Amino acid sequence: MISIFLGPPGSGKGTQAKHFQSARGWPQLSTGDMLRAAIASGAELGVKAKGFMEKGALVPDDLVIALIEKRSQDPDCAQGFILDGFPRTIAQGESLARMLQARGKRIGSVLYFKIDDAELVARLSGRRTCEKCGSVFHVKFSPPKRDGVCDKCQGKLIQRNDDQESVIRNRLSVYHQQTSPLVDFYRTQGLIREIDAALPPAQVQGKLEALLKS
Ligand code: AP5
Repeated sequence: MISIFLGPPGSGKGTQAKHFQSARGWPQLSTGDMLRAAIASGAELGVKAKGFMEKGALVPDDLVIALIEKRSQDPDCAQGFILDGFPRTIAQGESLARMLQARGKRIGSVLYFKIDDAELVARLSGRRTCEKCGSVFHVKFSPPKRDGVCDKCQGKLIQRNDDQESVIRNRLSVYHQQTSPLVDFYRTQGLIREIDAALPPAQVQGKLEALLKS
């Protein structure tokens, strides 16, 4: 099962992909997480990506395509995986199609997280992420039991650099210009399944379960 979680920043892709990874063992391939890890480790990829990410711009296609090409060949991906935050441009979508075709695999479904921009700014500005295990919280919508402390590993909760309001606005505009054309790209292939991402997390999860099973 290869599924793509497609939607604007803050629509809940990461929250849901992490759930399915721990509940079902389906690996979450998040290009955003991989790039942040590269920045934290001082890797060359991180040095190249940092400036783009701080501005809320997309990292060049060739860098992220190479990341997915490599990661998706790891043994844990043999039975499938969830792509979270990739593809993000038509060029990435076309590369992915060629990559999978060469391996005799195909995309099962594209789950489109549909939601208005107004809700996204509130979600992203209140997001807190565990610096140790990557768990995601929200100061209002899914607060941790103790302020600033991760429920799962007691790690410190931090705010992402690109979750400042001015950068969020740029990320949303980049999404509308460069990523949203993928909705039609996959709709014409009959792969799009729409999710009302404005629903509470448990309801979004239930709808995804049903769609992924079918
Ligand atoms: P990335 O890390 O992929 O960020 P994103 O796509 O902007 O998505 P987010 O992680 O911000 O949101 P999400 O949909 O996962 O929401 P979440 O579940 O966290 O990318 C970051 C940067 O890396 C990009 O800007 C770009 O520079 C670069 N990059 C990455 N991939 C790339 C690519 N393929 N090509 C080029 N560049 C790339 O939820 C958000 C908040 O809302 C949380 O606080 C959560 O608790 C809360 N929440 C979640 N669901 C709900 C709900 N149903 N109701 C209420 N609150 C909710």
